[in-house]
Formats: sequence, C-alpha cells, structure tokens
Amino acid sequence: MGKVYYVTKHVGLGLLVLAVTALVTIIALSIAYDKERAKNRDALGDGAAGGTSVPTPFTTPSGPKEPWDRYRLPVSLAPVSYNVTLWPRLKPGADGMYFFTGKSAVVVRCVKETDLLIIHSNKLNLTSFNGHHAVLTGLGHATAPAIQKSWLVVNTEFLVLQLRSGLSVGASYVLYTEFKGELADDLEGFYRSEYTEDGVKKVVATSQMQATYARKTFPCFDEPAMKAVFNVTIIHDPDTVALSNGMETGTADSVIDGVSVRVTTFEPTERMSTYLLAFIVSDFVHIKSTQNKNLLIRIWARRKAIDSRQGEYALNVTGPILRFYEQYFNTTYPLSKSDQIALPDFNAGAMENWGLITYRETALLFDPVMSSTGNKERIATVVSHELAHMWFGNLVTLQWWNDLWLNEGFASYVEYLGADYAEPTWSVKDEIILADVQKVFAVDALASSHPLTRGEEEVNTPAQISEMFNTISYSKGAAVIRMLSEFLTEPVFAKGLSSYLNTFAFGNTVYTDLWDHLQQAVENTPGMHIPHSVHDIMNRWTLQMGFPVVTIDTRTGSITQKHFLLDPDSVLDRPSQFNYTWFVPIKWMKTGVKQQQYWLLQETDSNSLMRVSGEDWVLANTNVAGYFRVNYDLDNWDRLLSLLNTNHQALSIINRAQIIDDAFNLARAKIINTTLALTTTKYLSKERDYIPWESALRNLDYYILMFDRTEVYGALQLYLKKQIQPLFEHFKTITANWTNVPTGHTDQIHPNLKSTVYCRAIAFGGVEEWDFAWRMFKNATLASEASRLRSAMACTKAPWLLNRYLEYTLDPTKIRKQDATSTIHYIARNIVGMPLAWNFVRARWSYLFKQYGGRSFSFSGLISGITKRLSTEFELQELMKFKEDNIHVGFGSATLALEQAIEKTTANIKWVAENKAHVLKWFNDESQ
Ligand SMILES: *[C@@H]1O[C@H](CO)[C@@H](O)[C@H](O)[C@H]1NC(C)=O
Ligand SMILES: *[C@@H]1O[C@H](CO)[C@@H](O)[C@H](O)[C@H]1NC(C)=O
Ligand SMILES: *[C@@H]1O[C@H](CO)[C@@H](O)[C@H](O)[C@H]1NC(C)=O
Ligand SMILES: *[C@@H]1O[C@H](CO)[C@@H](O)[C@H](O)[C@H]1NC(C)=O
Ligand SMILES: *[C@@H]1O[C@H](CO)[C@@H](O)[C@H](O)[C@H]1NC(C)=O
Ligand SMILES: *[C@@H]1O[C@H](CO)[C@@H](O)[C@H](O)[C@H]1NC(C)=O
Ligand SMILES: [Zn+2]
Repeated sequence: MGKVYYVTKHVGLGLLVLAVTALVTIIALSIAYDKERAKNRDALGDGAAGGTSVPTPFTTPSGPKEPWDRYRLPVSLAPVSYNVTLWPRLKPGADGMYFFTGKSAVVVRCVKETDLLIIHSNKLNLTSFNGHHAVLTGLGHATAPAIQKSWLVVNTEFLVLQLRSGLSVGASYVLYTEFKGELADDLEGFYRSEYTEDGVKKVVATSQMQATYARKTFPCFDEPAMKAVFNVTIIHDPDTVALSNGMETGTADSVIDGVSVRVTTFEPTERMSTYLLAFIVSDFVHIKSTQNKNLLIRIWARRKAIDSRQGEYALNVTGPILRFYEQYFNTTYPLSKSDQIALPDFNAGAMENWGLITYRETALLFDPVMSSTGNKERIATVVSHELAHMWFGNLVTLQWWNDLWLNEGFASYVEYLGADYAEPTWSVKDEIILADVQKVFAVDALASSHPLTRGEEEVNTPAQISEMFNTISYSKGAAVIRMLSEFLTEPVFAKGLSSYLNTFAFGNTVYTDLWDHLQQAVENTPGMHIPHSVHDIMNRWTLQMGFPVVTIDTRTGSITQKHFLLDPDSVLDRPSQFNYTWFVPIKWMKTGVKQQQYWLLQETDSNSLMRVSGEDWVLANTNVAGYFRVNYDLDNWDRLLSLLNTNHQALSIINRAQIIDDAFNLARAKIINTTLALTTTKYLSKERDYIPWESALRNLDYYILMFDRTEVYGALQLYLKKQIQPLFEHFKTITANWTNVPTGHTDQIHPNLKSTVYCRAIAFGGVEEWDFAWRMFKNATLASEASRLRSAMACTKAPWLLNRYLEYTLDPTKIRKQDATSTIHYIARNIVGMPLAWNFVRARWSYLFKQYGGRSFSFSGLISGITKRLSTEFELQELMKFKEDNIHVGFGSATLALEQAIEKTTANIKWVAENKAHVLKWFNDESQ
C-alpha cells in the first residue's frame, strides 16, 4: 500500500518561521524549503484493519479450538477461479441505506479431505437457499455432498458449511452465493465516497481490500496465498462507468428488476490475491496514453479535475516509470492496461490494486498553477511506489502478512529509482535519507521497537495484520534493502531480483526465497565476494530489532559496534539470538579518498588503515549506504567539524546531513556531549543545500518542543536567525532582491509559498481570517490546496478557534474521515493547540477509538503526535493515567505507539533536566 500523510506542516519551515519573523524572509526561505517534500509520505498507508474490533490477544493456534475459531483458513481447499457480479446502488434504498447486491460462484479444488467448507465472509447478508447460506455443486464428474448445516462466525469472519460427507481430494466444486452488503462511507471493502460538483452531490462506489476487506465485498478465500482468477461483472447506472482490475470487454444495456442498467464485463484477471482486487463505479472521466507498446495507460478523476488537466503529470510519468521497471526487473508488465484513479475519500495514500491503482487526490493530481514542487515530487514518488508493486507484491506475492516488510520496504526503496528515472534532475534518491532512514532511526532506537520479521504464527487477527503497516516495515525495510543493494552492487541485486520474479511469477514466496536468488546471483558473478551468505548477513538486520552505532577510534584504528538505544537507561526485555551484534558493511573514505569497503563482523575489531593523525580524517558510512550510526574519537570529530567549516562540499550532501543527525542522536543517548552536537550546526551559515538544513532543523525541532515553553527559546531563536541570515542574503541575491518572487504570477501567491503564507495569515489573524480559510477549504477544487488550508487553519493562536476546529474533526460533513486524525495532529503541533488536542483526545478516546481504532497508521500517528512535547513528571503521570483510564476501551493499533510515548516522555524528562542549563548557555554564547 502507499503511504498516508499527516505531517503536512513542514517542521523545518515552522522553525524558520519562528526564528525569523519578517514576512519577506519567510517568503524567501520558503522558496528553498517549502517543498512539502517526500516527508509527506510519512505515515504509510493502511486503510486496513479489523474495523472497530478490539485486537484479540492471540493464544496458541494448536489449542482445542474448532477450525472456524482460528483466524487462518484451513489448507484443505484451494480456490481456482471466481465469477463475481456486483451491483452497487448509488442512491439510498427505501430505508435510507446505500447498499450493493452481488453473486459469486467460486470453483474450489479439494486438496485434503474435509467435510467442512470454510470461506471468509464479513458483514454480508447472504441469501438463503433451502435454509442454507450457499449452494454447493460438483464440477465435472464430482458430486457435491449435501449441506448439513451452515452458519456465520462473526469473530473470525467466516461462513462455514458442515457437509454430510467428505469432499474428494482432486475433485472440484462450485460454491454459489448471493448477498447484500451496505455501501457505507467507511473506507473499507466496497464503500461509498461522496463529493460535490457544481452544487450537485455525486456518489462513487469504490473499494479498498487490503488487508482483509475483500471478504466484506463477497465471500472469498481472503488470504494472499489463495490466488485465483476473477471473472468480474459490474452492474451500474447507464450514465456511469465501471472499472476493475482487468480491461472491460463489453457493455450491454439491460433492464433488471424494472431498472435500466448497464452491465460491464471484464477480461479474466491473472492469477492474483484477493487483497489486490478493485471495483469502481463513478461518473469520472479519463485521459490516456498509448506510448508504451501494447499497453493502455489511463488516469481517471472527477470531470473538473481532468478538464483542468490535473491528471496530466501523473500520465506523463507513468509510461517512463513502467518502462524503467520492465528493464530493471527484466520482466514485462504483465497486464494489458494500467489504470490509476484519484478518489475524494481514501484512507491510505494509495493502493496498488493490480491494474487499477487507487490514490488520494493529493497523491495523483497536479495543477501546474496551484500545486507546489513538493506536491509534484510526492506524485512522482507515490506513483513510482505503486507501480513497483505491480511486480513486487502483485506478480510475486508474499505468503503471509508477517513478511509485509519485504513487500513495502522493497517498494519504498525502489520508488526512488523509478522517480529518479522519470525526473533525473531532482536528485530524488537522496531524499530517502530524510524520508526513511533518519525517520526510522528515531523509532528503531527505542527499546520498544521490534524486529522487521515476525513469525507467521504471531500475525493472525485483522488488527495484528493492520499493525504490520508501520514505519518499521516501510522505512527500515527500505533502508536495509538499500544497504543490501549497496553491498551487493546494483547489477547483482537486479540480477537476483529478476531471477526471483521470473521464478515465482503468479505465485507466493517467503522472504528467504529472495535471499536465495540474491545468493545465486552473487555466486554467478565472477569476482564477487561477501563475507557470509546473504541469508546470514540479512538475518542480523531482520530478526533482531534496532541497529548499531559503530565507533571508530582513529588514534588506534579500533572499531566497535554497540546496539544504539536513544535512552541508555531503558530496559531491554527482548533478547536477541545474535546478542545485538550485526555484520556491518562499512563504506568509508580517508581525507577525501574512497577506501575499500570494510566489514565489521564482530563486536570489536581493528583496522590499521583507519588509524590517522595530523590533518587526515576518516568518514565512515559514505552516502549513508548502511543502516547504522557512526561515532569517532574527539580528534576525528574536530577534524570533521573543521572540514565542514572550511570546505563542507568535500563531503556529500547526505553525509553532511548524516553527521548532524548522528551527532544529535549520539548526544541524546549520552554518547557524546550535547555541545558537540550543537557545534555541527555552526557550519550551516555556509550551507545552501536543502537536505542538511532539513536534517538540522528536524533535530533542533526536538529542542523547540522541549524548550518552547521556557527561556531557552529566546536564545535559540537568536542563534538560528544568525545562522539563517546568509541563506536569506543568498536567496535575496538570486531572486534579484525578491523581484523574481513570485515569477510570472504577480497577483497571486506562488504555490511553493502558500503553506507558509496561509499559516502565518491564520496565526496573525482572527476569526474572520479563519472563517475565510474555512470557506476556501470547503470550495477548493484541488485536493492539495484543500490540504494546505486544512493544515494552515491549525496555526491560529486563538484557543476557541482551535477547540472549534477539534470539534469539526468529529463531523464527517466538515472534515472527511480520512483527514480527521491528521487534523488533530496538526493542531497538536501548535504550541497553543497541544494541550487542547491532548485534552480533546483524552475526553473523546472511546469515540475516536470506535471510529478509527482499527486503521493502524493514522491512528498510531495520533498518539505520537499529541504526546511529542510531553516532558514533565506531571505530564508523564497524565499519560499513565490516560493509559489506565482507557484500558477497558483499548488502544488498538495505537498500543505500541502509546508504549513508545511513555518511553519517550520518560527520556524527555531526564534529558531536559540534564541539558537545559548548558543548552541555554551554548545558545547564549553562540548567538552573540
Ligand atoms: C473464468 O473465466 C475463465 C476464462 O474464461 C474460465 O476458465 C473460468 O472457468 C471462469 N471461472 C468461473 C468460475 O467460471
Ligand atoms: C461464469 O460465467 C460464465 C459466463 O457467464 C459462465 O459461462 C460460467 O458457467 C460461469 N461459471 C460458473 C461456475 O458459474
Ligand atoms: C442485513 O441484515 C440485518 C438484519 O436483518 C439488517 O439489520 C441489515 O440492515 C442488513 N444489511 C443490509 C445491507 O441490508
Ligand atoms: C506532460 O508532457 C507534455 C509533453 O511532453 C508537456 O507538454 C506537459 O507540460 C507535461 N505536463 C506536465 C504537467 O508536466
Ligand atoms: C532477463 O531474462 C532473460 C529470460 O527471461 C534471461 O535470459 C536474461 O539473462 C535476464 N537478464 C538479466 C540481466 O537478468
Ligand atoms: C551470544 O552470547 C552468548 C553468551 O555470551 C554466546 O553463547 C552466543 O554464542 C552468542 N551468540 C552470537 C550469535 O554471537
Ligand atoms: Zn506499498
């Protein structure tokens, strides 16, 4: 799945704004920084989850339970193909309910004798045939046994048929059902999305199956390994268009039950998993391209969006990115068409349904006049991410959700390669450092982190599956796969990948299958050598949580590794079979000269080449190719700092960013002094590149959160203002004293500046400005514009406006459900809004939990968002009390986030106590 985003407010920008209050400066700086960059892909898509169900603690699967009380399907039956017909009603029925009806015939083959037929079915009203929920017939020579009894199991979401006698191994049967379901606005399964065009309310029927919602659309074997062919038919109003995974093969107008309808049929799909199905009925229109041989590429959206050419950019990049992957994977795109559609209501960022990818509007639609460069970058990377899944995930699918990290980590890594191919001038590959590596370093440095890989038996319930869609899976997955590609070299990596995809096409795998094919690629490459097998090297990164800090003492040449924990006093209660040591591939350079890759294979080692003196310096982890932090002896730190001050361009952009990020985090972990970390920001007065600045600002953001209610804040602002001044002058010069800003559109705000200007206007304005923004928000025809306004409205300083805004998040006619948690998050970012949001969430927990508890990602983000500033004993007690008070309600997919919040708050309290005095002194001294 793609990525949801909720941290739209640019941390760095917010900081600059606070530091430098003159509006013109803000505008100048935002040219450089307000790119609303890839960090918008922050939280990753989910949309998946067990509805409102409380996660059921899983007990041993081998207990005395009945087969239908377990969450996994028995292996006795294998689906072969389905005929599925769906008819969504876009107008409510007599009882006011929107609904759909459907029928399905699934051919199943019996592979192990059984007298039970168990199939997923959730929230569907099944038509009764002779008192049973389904009809079973034999195929060919097979005769189906009679149904003795049939029933639904709500908890495990099954339909169960008890047969009078056993099914025969090798024989095939047809299970036929007819059903009715609600077409709710719940963003799960087959659901309803509404929008208004020219004052007219329009209804769209659309779907989100990942991870466990296909079963809410029709009875099916809803597990990723239960692949089958789907023959889809959709019945719909004659003035709408129906889409599904395959190409439409015919439409016929007809009258059913006295209603004029159109019946659209689709070509049979390839053998595929249920979670990748998609069904959409809308009055949307499209643009298309046939630039890629034998392939129809279409972009679908609301008529107004297509008419104002908002689909053009996505169409422009899709063809090239698909061609890039065909070459990179050495496998042709396996379908005859590629549809991509932007939906007004969508929970995740995007979803890689095979042949019919669904997006939030902001992730697909681009307006050359209104959208920012950041919006454009997001579209390129999200499209690239989803298209990568067409092979990795869709063509070859992981056996079970416990391996989700490989699917999502892989797509989150190669999305940069695809986007870079489409937009070679953007240096988009460097962005992975901010958007994934540094982001997940922060989470994976906690004692409450968890390993990438989980045992298959640990992931069973829909809520447990949903919890897999987290930062560790996406971003750590991306970081370790990138490291693997770096130490294997890209050609060897691509060779192994191609062999894996070709071997398992249309099938399922476990992650070790990929390691095996990469290992073969290594063995088939003359001269290629790695110190252990791919399997043994990667196990240390995937089976144990966390990552090492590698310390190089350049006085002696000694090298050591140690599990990096942000809070050195935290208690590790998760033992590791590898004792928290890793096989670490270290790319490094000495005094500007690239050296041979060094493998640290033990806890302690030494390398005489790393012993240096005089003017020489060592820099390890060049281009941040490895997933680890680096520390040095103080002499080498001094030499690196003086290099930054004299000739920072001797180091790559991402290494400059990483030195800052490592130093700040080593200081947080008390491995180096806080003042050494702060000293890494002194060279910034010379820095003109985005990534190092952003890295510094994100780290200083922690200081802001901890100190923006104290006297440290004033000194910090003065220091930043001093550091930013030269950058300001730089942009003043290159924009010819601001006269080139904004170019070409003298009477309007340049899209790159909008977020900042909107936020400031709301912050300094009152209710009139706020209400104006609200009207603009409600009338916005471009989703990214609406999203900017929604974020800006959280900038007001008026508590009553913030409280009113918080209340709006409970009303879906005001704030769409897909945007509710992110809006609360924006409000919590605001220093005035934080306590209000915290009170609000505490007061409304059971309601919020009921509404969003299952949707893992945005929901866990809510907890981490509102607790970021907590740093006093009193606040910790409030947090503990919140946990206690709501144990009976539960925390669902935010359970882990709550534990992390408690751990972080505890660490914050200690950090503030230990650092406040000398941080204040440092900023006072340096801002002179
Ligand atoms: C679906 O269509 C394919 C190809 O025409 C056919 O082989 C298969 O039997 C059909 N499935 C069902 C359930 O009829
Ligand atoms: C599936 O639909 C096709 C075309 O309508 C039909 O020929 C076939 O018999 C159906 N298969 C089953 C198992 O009902
Ligand atoms: C399904 O049946 C239940 C119980 O009769 C009813 O309350 C519900 O509205 C029905 N759902 C639909 C979509 O008709
Ligand atoms: C899409 O490509 C066409 C042809 O190269 C170009 O004219 C147009 O400006 C592009 N549109 C966007 C939004 O990039
Ligand atoms: C590409 O695939 C073909 C067969 O499908 C194979 O012969 C060839 O070696 C592959 N090329 C690479 C670079 O893997
Ligand atoms: C971990 O430490 C234990 C005890 O010191 C030792 O027996 C074991 O071999 C170590 N395992 C690894 C993988 O280093
Ligand atoms: Zn994905």
